[in-house]
Amino acid sequence: MSRTVLLATEKPFSAAARNEVVSILEKAGYTARVLESYKGKAPLIDAIRDVDAVIVRSDIIDAEVLGAASKLALVVRAGAGYDNIDCATARSRNVAVMNTPGQNANAVAELAFGMMVYMARGKFNGKTGTELRGKTLGLHAFGAVGRAVATIAKGFGMTLFAYDPFVKPEVFREAGVEAVGSVEELYRRSQYVSLHVPATAETKGSIGKGLLSLLPAGGTLVNTARKEIINEPELLEVLESRKDFRYISDIAPTDATAAVIKEKYADRVYVTPNKMGAQTEEANVNAGLAAARQIVGFFERGEKQFVVN
Ligand code: 3PG
Repeated sequence: MSRTVLLATEKPFSAAARNEVVSILEKAGYTARVLESYKGKAPLIDAIRDVDAVIVRSDIIDAEVLGAASKLALVVRAGAGYDNIDCATARSRNVAVMNTPGQNANAVAELAFGMMVYMARGKFNGKTGTELRGKTLGLHAFGAVGRAVATIAKGFGMTLFAYDPFVKPEVFREAGVEAVGSVEELYRRSQYVSLHVPATAETKGSIGKGLLSLLPAGGTLVNTARKEIINEPELLEVLESRKDFRYISDIAPTDATAAVIKEKYADRVYVTPNKMGAQTEEANVNAGLAAARQIVGFFERGEKQFVVN
């Protein structure tokens, strides 16, 4: 059966990754359509109308977009977090949703360290800073990105803790990471806490002053996960009450929070100009090609390993 697959990336992949995605799809006998660097929902709604599958990044696939896609059978999120996709509506329309877990984990982990070093060295201001060696690092969740961060952290000589109730004890042991019994203990023992939890109904707004006030002196929160998991009013409260607390993030907070940070706490906060954790050539290739192959596997062989809904 002739199928059409759309690659819809508001934030485009590298040309090499995009071309290889198209090539995998065409070799499978599909028509590949590319919609890149588009603005707003209208072009996506237009392009998705008659396709069988779509590959996206953080592009929003909500009920309206799904409603326009009358032939759609599969959405693949080329990346880890699928909070940008309305999975329940997809399920009710018999549309499968997949992600490509682990494919961009190293890129995100490397960025976490880039940001940590940048902040530890006073944003490269030339004044005396601090080192990461010998510091404690807590991994809040221990999925693919948390594990990639742990691998790099060992090279830096950091002491590692992790909290993840969904992970078996042997996984922590094999990774050489001490599993702590509660999220409070993680924050109490970690000079740096790196967030790797998805944005779900349970986690949204869950990182606030209750946890942040437990951090030891000079405590630094590293966010390469999602902005929604942060309780922003409480983040501002902690920045106000603790002059030693620092926040580094790959995801911009809401405009109102960003304005307060810019005015009052700019020296202790760093936010990348545009979410860029997964934005490497390697991660684009890894995630994009995995997505294309999963589509072929789904249609040709009925493979459902990465279905999340
Ligand atoms: C992910 O969940 O995989 C990351 O947040 C990457 O998102 P991006 O593809 O929009 O860069």
